[in-house]
Amino acid sequence: MKKHISRTSAKALILMVFTVFAFTSNIKAQSADEGAKIFKQNCAVCHASHSDQMGTGPGLKGLFDRIPKGDWINKWVINNEALIKAGDPYAKKIKAQYGAAMTVFEGQIDEKGVASIVAFLKGPDPALKQVASGGTGTTAGPAAEEQKGGIEPLYLILGIIVILAILIGAFRSVRTSMQNAANRAEGKAENPDITFGQEVRNWMAGHRRLVGVFIIIIAFGGMKSCWDACYNIGVYYDWKTQKGYKPEQPIKFSHKLHAGENEIACQYCHSSVEKSRHAGIPSVNICMNCHKGIQKGPQYGEKEIGKIYAANGFDPKTGKYDTSKENPLKWIKVHNLPDHVYFNHSQHVVVGQIKCEQCHGNVKEMTVAEQKAPLTMKWCIECHRKTEVVMEGNAYYDRLHKALKEKYAGQYDVKFTVEKIGGLECGKCHY
Ligand code: HEC
Ligand code: HEC
Ligand code: HEC
Ligand code: HEC
Ligand code: HEC
Ligand code: HEC
Repeated sequence: MKKHISRTSAKALILMVFTVFAFTSNIKAQSADEGAKIFKQNCAVCHASHSDQMGTGPGLKGLFDRIPKGDWINKWVINNEALIKAGDPYAKKIKAQYGAAMTVFEGQIDEKGVASIVAFLKGPDPALKQVASGGTGTTAGPAAEEQKGGIEPLYLILGIIVILAILIGAFRSVRTSMQNAANRAEGKAENPDITFGQEVRNWMAGHRRLVGVFIIIIAFGGMKSCWDACYNIGVYYDWKTQKGYKPEQPIKFSHKLHAGENEIACQYCHSSVEKSRHAGIPSVNICMNCHKGIQKGPQYGEKEIGKIYAANGFDPKTGKYDTSKENPLKWIKVHNLPDHVYFNHSQHVVVGQIKCEQCHGNVKEMTVAEQKAPLTMKWCIECHRKTEVVMEGNAYYDRLHKALKEKYAGQYDVKFTVEKIGGLECGKCHY
């Protein structure tokens, strides 16, 4: 019987260690994510995290092989000046080697912050992580997406419950065994085995209030997770985004040649972009403004420009139009939002003062128009979360801003993002 006890408790112990291990590694991942954030905000301007590329400061690849062990990293990151002044030999050495001064982070980053930065630096290169997870590692700039990580509160709660269940299970079998042993010693019959389910029910009946609290926590955790997941819709659909889509068009029209080399303004052709929700595709008449005269191109000679004439029923020899020969161009749409999404160009370009390139990439370099942004919901949301609205000269926002500033006076510096004016409300983007 003794053997029986030790075997069950060993099993329980292994399970417990396993679960705890799974959790700590998860928490570690969370801390690394936190560290990635702190690093991006405070350190990335001067340091590359996972390469040895030199910025204002050295690249931090292989950092932990060269710096002194122990507390050094804390002291350096929090206040490198103090460490140099205190005569620390390694601090003095790198100061002499690089010469530039690193920022003092005293009061901004504490030891916990440094610990998460360390976890991030020791972890895998986030650039690799993105590619590996089938994410969007290739785009540069604002079109690039960030990967969301971290531990969901729901999982944490579920984990705790699992651990509790294991503990209860372990105690229970130990208790039954001991009881049985005692019973036998007293010459009584062994306890009939009650099932684990029954035991749980008994326990729950005795701890109604606790069970209630648990249920409420799980319900809220679940709701919160669902809510968060809502804002990430589209991430899970990344495989179906049309990013990189660049269909062959009926005429080899090149933005590089027109908007790039010949510096024609985007608005000349996309004339409604500042006035309406649609940027609009120019009609062939707009092309004719120039191509009535320009009849030959540098690359395709008369062939491609000839298609403009064909579309317009224009005869370049006689200079006359024959409407019966018109054959309208059918440009293939590159960007396609689903019908249930409302997007407005003038709001972004005029009111928000966002440049075309931020969403469309460097069109001036494109010989074939291409979709550069993922156009997922997450993409919209992330920009709304981090972009501040332009306030100057807009009476409406001036008033709103003043009111907000008064409301939060002295508490914190209000960052007035699109999110704050309701840019995350479902109804703003969905019909
Ligand atoms: C304004 C630029 C700047 C910022 C911001 C900055 N550093 Fe530095 N860092 C440097 C420079 C320059 C050095 C080289 C030592 C020197 O010249 O003082 C350095 C050195 C280091 C070193 C030692 C590198 C080695 O190879 O031994 C570490 C570690 C470090 N920084 C971490 C950080 C962390 C973490 C942050 C963000 C919390 C940060 N730095 C922010 C400029 C910066
Ligand atoms: C000379 C006229 C002209 C100019 C100037 C021009 N475009 Fe275009 N643009 C077009 C035409 C025609 C199309 C449709 C054919 C295609 O997709 O290549 C187009 C397509 C596009 C598309 C893809 C639309 C879709 O189908 O989703 C984008 C984005 C775009 N233009 C952005 C710009 C930007 C940004 C600029 C300024 C840097 C610019 N364009 C300048 C004529 C022009
Ligand atoms: C504001 C003037 C202007 C407008 C409007 C314009 N183009 Fe052009 N286009 C040019 C110039 C300039 C060239 C280059 C001529 C050269 O370098 O010899 C050109 C060249 C071309 C070529 C020849 C490419 C080659 O390499 O052979 C094509 C095709 C073309 N344009 C299509 C269009 C289409 C389609 C439209 C209407 C959507 C349009 N263009 C509108 C000015 C214009
Ligand atoms: C905030 C992001 C954003 C900015 C800034 C932006 N666009 Fe767009 N653009 C989009 C989206 C999203 C679509 C797809 C719209 C759809 O399918 O309804 C699009 C579609 C287009 C199209 C296809 C025709 C249409 O109206 O749907 C053209 C052309 C275009 N954009 C040109 C431009 C030009 C030129 C500028 C700068 C003056 C610009 N865009 C600025 C996001 C943007
Ligand atoms: C590059 C950043 C950026 C991207 C990407 C972006 N937006 Fe915006 N959006 C803005 C800014 C800035 C404003 C605020 C404009 C203003 O001041 O009213 C805004 C405002 C809006 C508003 C009005 C919000 C309100 O409360 O009045 C809607 C709706 C909207 N965006 C939809 C979209 C949709 C849909 C997408 C994705 C297809 C998208 N946006 C992508 C920057 C962006
Ligand atoms: C800033 C604009 C914006 C806001 C705010 C927004 N959405 Fe979306 N939503 C989009 C865009 C863009 C798509 C299209 C994504 C795609 O096609 O991959 C989308 C797609 C969806 C889809 C369809 C998913 C799919 O892949 O077909 C659902 C469901 C959805 N949104 C629900 C919501 C809910 C619920 C909210 C509020 C919590 C919300 N959206 C807020 C822009 C927005």
